[in-house]
Amino acid sequence: MTKIVIQNKLKRFNKVINVDGDKSISIRSLLIGSQSHGICKISNLSNSEDIMTTITGLKKLGVRILKKKEKYYIFGNGLNSFNLKKNIVIDAGNSGTFARLLLGLLIKSPHTIKIIGDESLSRRDFLRIILPLKEFGANFFSKKKIGLPIKILGSELIRPIKYLEKKGSAQCKSSVMLAALNAPGTTIIKAKKSRDHTENFYKFLKLPIKIYKTKKFDVIKVKGECQFKSFDYNIPGDVSSSAFFIILTLLSNNSKLKIKNVNVNPSRIGFIKIINKMGAKVIISNKKKVMGELIGDIFVKSQNNFKGLNCPVSLNSNAIDEFLIIFLLAAKASGVSSFKKLDELNKKESPRLKLGSKILNKIGIKTIINNGSIKIFGNPKLNIKKNIIIKNFYKDHRIFMTSVIAALCFGGKWIIHDVDSHKSSFPSFLKVLKKIGSKYSLI
Ligand code: S3P
Repeated sequence: MTKIVIQNKLKRFNKVINVDGDKSISIRSLLIGSQSHGICKISNLSNSEDIMTTITGLKKLGVRILKKKEKYYIFGNGLNSFNLKKNIVIDAGNSGTFARLLLGLLIKSPHTIKIIGDESLSRRDFLRIILPLKEFGANFFSKKKIGLPIKILGSELIRPIKYLEKKGSAQCKSSVMLAALNAPGTTIIKAKKSRDHTENFYKFLKLPIKIYKTKKFDVIKVKGECQFKSFDYNIPGDVSSSAFFIILTLLSNNSKLKIKNVNVNPSRIGFIKIINKMGAKVIISNKKKVMGELIGDIFVKSQNNFKGLNCPVSLNSNAIDEFLIIFLLAAKASGVSSFKKLDELNKKESPRLKLGSKILNKIGIKTIINNGSIKIFGNPKLNIKKNIIIKNFYKDHRIFMTSVIAALCFGGKWIIHDVDSHKSSFPSFLKVLKKIGSKYSLI
């Protein structure tokens, strides 16, 4: 297992960068493309491990996917067109999004399909989607209470459902929205607000979808059994990957960074709202709507004088993948920051709330953690002089990348294990770090 050693803070930089294609949209483009009629052409698809796992899985289900000159071609054969053999096992690797969304597309499967995953994914909660998918008529078999492996056997007798999604989980909402494509009649979903890429995709494809918005929930009506044509799609940069470089720039000295062509969908930029409330001045320019998604360039400069905040719970779901990196800003802010109702964070690739708090303690920051809430006692003078070792984090890509950013901003000598973990979402992370002048070695 490769480790990274970092013993120098990042020196002054002024750069323009791109980040890898958005992971959530990449997975959706592949899954939805596989159900279309014709050949989809996808550009800038993320080449992260989660996406390669999605492609391998779809190929096992009989979908033809080719790569030519950096473009991916998906040969769709229409709704429920998987070419299913007996005893298929799909390995979803580390990807909760792929596993959960795929299950939505399998509710009519005539054969039993087994879904397995890596150690981290096997611990995660699948009951949250088994319950609504059973309502549609699908059958599930599992020896465990909540985790993988599970087996799904579809049914010919699928019915539309009414579903209440209370966690603010886009994966649950999207799994049900994909299942709804195969249900006769209208599926009605009342979902706590979360990223809305699946809704945007359906609108872009002119599928029969109606959305009624209230303050906390969206009511989404999807009419099923409507075939749709193939599409061309250009995946924008991933704002969750950008987040690491935004915080790195803010916490470095005299530096500037522009990140081009990033998805800045309002349901994804909760973290920018949060850090701007803490005093950051992150600017989004050149905004335009492309294929149903908002795209823009992000500009950020180094600053000091961040202040702690009492984070509004209403922003949690729109910043769910960025809390670890927000915690670094809170560590350097004056005063106490308080984040509440973050139980979902402990259900990610690792128990992120617990591990995030432990890392802060290692670097001398006091935290109080209590039932899904955390208080972080910031120290604007934070400057580490000791050795820090980060290991045993369930190979969580976001723990790895957050630790690297902490090392480059706060000083000290860091040894961070499981370097390969970052490839699950952001394979060019180390390359981009090099581009802006970071010094590190791999051992
Ligand atoms: C995702 C939704 C979020 C997020 C994950 C990607 C998606 O998960 O954490 O990285 O693409 O729908 P939950 O829906 O479980 O909160």
